Amino acid sequence: MCGIVGIAGAHPVAERLLTGLKRLEYRGYDSAGVATLAEGRIDRRRASGKLSALAARVAETPLSGTTGIGHTRWATHGAPTELNAHPHATERVAVVHNGIIENYRTLLADLAGDGYLPASQTDSEVVALLVTRAMDLGLSAEEAVESTLGKLKGAYALVFLFEAQDKLLIAARHGSPLAIGHGDGEMFVGSDALALSPFTERVTYLEDGDWAVLGPEGARLHAKSGPVTRPLHQIVSTQTTADKGPFRHFMLKEIHEQPEGLSRVIGTILDRPSMSLLPPPALPFRFSDLKQVSIVGCGTAYLAGATAKYWFERFARLPVQVEIASEMRYREPPLDPGELALFISQSGETADTLAALRYCRAADQHVIAVVNVPQSSIAREADVALPLMCGPEIGVASTKAFTAQLTVLLGLALQAARDRGTIEQERLDSLLEALCRLPAAISATLELDDELKGVSRVLARARNVLFLGRGLHYPIALEGALKLKEISYIHAEGYAAGELKHGPIALVEEAVPVVVLAPSDELSEKTFSNMQEVAARGAPVILVTDEAGRSAGTALGAHILTLPTTDPALSPIISAVAVQLLAYHTATQLGADVDQPRNLAKSVTVE
Ligand code: AGP
Repeated sequence: MCGIVGIAGAHPVAERLLTGLKRLEYRGYDSAGVATLAEGRIDRRRASGKLSALAARVAETPLSGTTGIGHTRWATHGAPTELNAHPHATERVAVVHNGIIENYRTLLADLAGDGYLPASQTDSEVVALLVTRAMDLGLSAEEAVESTLGKLKGAYALVFLFEAQDKLLIAARHGSPLAIGHGDGEMFVGSDALALSPFTERVTYLEDGDWAVLGPEGARLHAKSGPVTRPLHQIVSTQTTADKGPFRHFMLKEIHEQPEGLSRVIGTILDRPSMSLLPPPALPFRFSDLKQVSIVGCGTAYLAGATAKYWFERFARLPVQVEIASEMRYREPPLDPGELALFISQSGETADTLAALRYCRAADQHVIAVVNVPQSSIAREADVALPLMCGPEIGVASTKAFTAQLTVLLGLALQAARDRGTIEQERLDSLLEALCRLPAAISATLELDDELKGVSRVLARARNVLFLGRGLHYPIALEGALKLKEISYIHAEGYAAGELKHGPIALVEEAVPVVVLAPSDELSEKTFSNMQEVAARGAPVILVTDEAGRSAGTALGAHILTLPTTDPALSPIISAVAVQLLAYHTATQLGADVDQPRNLAKSVTVE
């Protein structure tokens, strides 16, 4: 998604705008631009492609001024060209936008009638034209923005810069996040706290419908109801995320951070000295009163929920409905008041997940968020936010956040089971033992890196790959396929192994490698049969199993990856690391841009 930075300051601003935009590169983009006020006149530099192209443009023709705005664009309307790059501007106003203005065609037609015509193919430019027309009619900058906001339908985070007003920025939020940064004698605005962390750690988050008037000395916030104040937060400096350390990519660094991150999560579930299950955080309900749980998310976060379904149903005997957020928000399923809705989101800003959360709130559900950004919109709108504690995840493909989500959800399922009296103490103790050993098992899996790299050559040659899993490994088969697709651009499908003969086996041939996820458990023998069926049809087989499962693959000449043995309930968390590395090594062999795959954004803040 797009990234926004704005500075109303007392010092030259162009280089600092670029610094702020660099912190937002992880979000994914395909063009960028900055605008400042030079002697009161709006001056812009824009470029398609990476930020380096924009920086070269600014170096070639420097920008002066102490107030400015910057933007990294993830194209929604109009190709990723310089013409469509933000800021969009007239002589009177420049604007940057994250979101989608759904009624922009109607607004453009109205503007055309008054002689205001766009230069670009974007929806965003309509905002600059509306504010310009209002100011031409005599409205002040604030009045013009306020009247324009009332005309917009859709989602937006907007920041405006005005001709001849170099101590003024105006920011507005509706559906796409925006944060205000408090400096000393200067003020900042950004899409998220990460963009502001080079300048300040004091941040105020705008809520939907808020707009703010910023000057170097401070900000005045307005809601529809009038002037408003929002809490000031002290954010933790995230300087470490700007550094890949010894790793080639953020994704690889984050894969290797998993043992440490999971150890932190496990410390909130398990009291290691006594090996006993800690109570859950204070919740506005009792698990014993629940009859149904909805688990909601998108993409990899959704797959974490699909995995947790097995744990809640198996251990807590709680029926679980797992929902793709973009489906749930419009299907509007009937929900009994007082039940639980769990929202999974690394960024905490995914538009569909936030919309589904608001639907569930309106249906009187208890709302728990499992998020990696404590001050994100989803965290702030939940009754309780459970942190992933894995540090900012920069790579667009989610890795350490996924295994952290799984571990948090497993802990919650065990706490629910204990509170509902549906799990034997002996079984709980064995699960806690396995949980305590999980970071070491993940570290041992990371030691298989060379083997995974070798096996990934089989995938790098393919144009189509199948992933098969049963039970707890079915969602991991889906996740493995998603990881491969999103960073190597190879078409991959995950299937429930039991579904193979109901259609997908027609795809099986020598050119289609099949990754079989089958650590030994009560279902692995059945999956081994599926493995034989695909091997018999010439498919190269990659068997991801454990010591006890190895022999099933040996006879077939399969490529075997032997993962550490663990409790079958925890093996999906370990298999997840294997499929992450498989995808990573496949993509790097193909020379793909692993951290910022084409067309993808880290946080999908628009529908
Ligand atoms: C993960 O590899 C994907 N990049 C994507 O599916 C992601 O999980 C999804 O967009 C949800 O994001 P969130 O966790 O920030 O809500």
